[in-house]
Amino acid sequence: MHVAMIGSGYVGLVSGACFADFGHVVTCVDKDPAKIEALQRGQMPIFEPGLSDLVAKNVRERRLSFATDLAGPVREADAVFIAVGTPSRRGDGHADLSYVYKAAEEIAAVMNGFTVVVTKSTVPVGTGDEVERIVRETRPDADFAVVSNPEFLREGAAISDFKRPDRILIGTDDERAKRVMSELYRPLYLNQAPILVTSRRTAELTKYAANAFLAVKITFINEIADLCEEVGANVQEVARGIGLDNRIGSKFLHAGPGYGGSCFPKDTLALIKTAQDYAAPIRTIETVVAVNEERKRAMAQKVIAACGGSVRGKIIAVLGLTFKPNTDDMREAPSLSIIAALQEAGAVVRAHDPEGIEQARAYLTDVAYAANPYDCADGADALVIVTEWDAYRALDLDSIRERLGAPIIVDLRNIYPPEDMQRRGFAYTSVGRPNGESL
Ligand SMILES: NC(=O)c1ccc[n+]([C@@H]2O[C@H](COP(=O)([O-])OP(=O)(O)OC[C@H]3O[C@@H](n4cnc5c(N)ncnc54)[C@H](O)[C@@H]3O)[C@@H](O)[C@H]2O)c1
Repeated sequence: MHVAMIGSGYVGLVSGACFADFGHVVTCVDKDPAKIEALQRGQMPIFEPGLSDLVAKNVRERRLSFATDLAGPVREADAVFIAVGTPSRRGDGHADLSYVYKAAEEIAAVMNGFTVVVTKSTVPVGTGDEVERIVRETRPDADFAVVSNPEFLREGAAISDFKRPDRILIGTDDERAKRVMSELYRPLYLNQAPILVTSRRTAELTKYAANAFLAVKITFINEIADLCEEVGANVQEVARGIGLDNRIGSKFLHAGPGYGGSCFPKDTLALIKTAQDYAAPIRTIETVVAVNEERKRAMAQKVIAACGGSVRGKIIAVLGLTFKPNTDDMREAPSLSIIAALQEAGAVVRAHDPEGIEQARAYLTDVAYAANPYDCADGADALVIVTEWDAYRALDLDSIRERLGAPIIVDLRNIYPPEDMQRRGFAYTSVGRPNGESL
């Protein structure tokens, strides 16, 4: 099959490379010439484990190419995927669909023969109807079907998620489109990945429901963590105790600084907006968003409390800036709010991240970046672990303690055992666990 992928960001590039690896002929298109030029030189515009090798292999085998102009690739394509961004619209939280609609117009203008237009971007219910209307209006003669195929991959594990998905969701009632989509995903079908075919609107809503549910789980365990701190219980043990119940499941029950990233914040807001527009408000998610927002400020307060009530003039070392490990994505990372709040309270922030520093520079001003965790700790009045990169799980703690000006560690990801940290001479604070001295 011939595939045109419109938008070559975290989702478009990974999906395009994986479809090429399945044997299809794929062109990844992006409006950003710098991105496409980098890809043509063999450089990845994002950090995603395994992506560079997968792209190189498929370029070498002539199944994957890159372009800034969609005309040629779309004309030849059996399926055209829209994988452009759908950020929050300023002001009301609704998904900004302008990139999706612009892409739909551009595709319609050049498409040729029966073409399946697939929205892979996360889009509110009814967007497929609007894409169909735009294509029809632009090209009344076109032979096409609009399908919803939301993407569930996670940054940091994107390739294995795409190749071994929990499920594939295809929203269409068009028989020809179903055949094209089955052919595209055939290797996964052979691997017995569950393929769900639903109506387009059901597929669109399912993606939001999935992300919102995960945001609920995270927020729930974060609030339980707060209660654990008050009553002297251990949230990790509570999470294990409930997670072993198959009805609950153990994933997404790690207490921490609140969810962030390029999806959950905007998708929860967009779902709230859709639900309000249809007069069926989802109050659970409205509460989750409010609680998560407050949590980021509370995390800065936790650091301030660990520093004896003030950080004015103090150097705070921050380990981990990206919203989770194994990505360089800084969008809505909890580190951004925490660092801003610490700076407002008078702290001088020094930070390290294994992959995110380049992206972080665009978001964070007045932060000094260290080359490694030890330089970051040097002379600092406290060290805060914000993202649980593997590199931070195996720190030489004696060296960290010697380098720190004061042996204070605030671990917002619970990666170290409190009693061990206490023994090593740290004043150690984590999330929802006794601090060590009480054990
Ligand atoms: N990032 C994730 O982990 C993830 C996971 C699942 C779903 N999604 C969804 O997938 C969509 C894309 O997310 P992303 O993180 O890949 O975004 P991104 O910002 O990394 O990439 C979007 C790309 O689209 C390009 N673009 C915009 N308009 C274009 C046009 N008309 N023609 C060509 N290129 C165009 C942009 O230049 C950009 O490179 C969003 O709706 C998102 O919610 C993201």
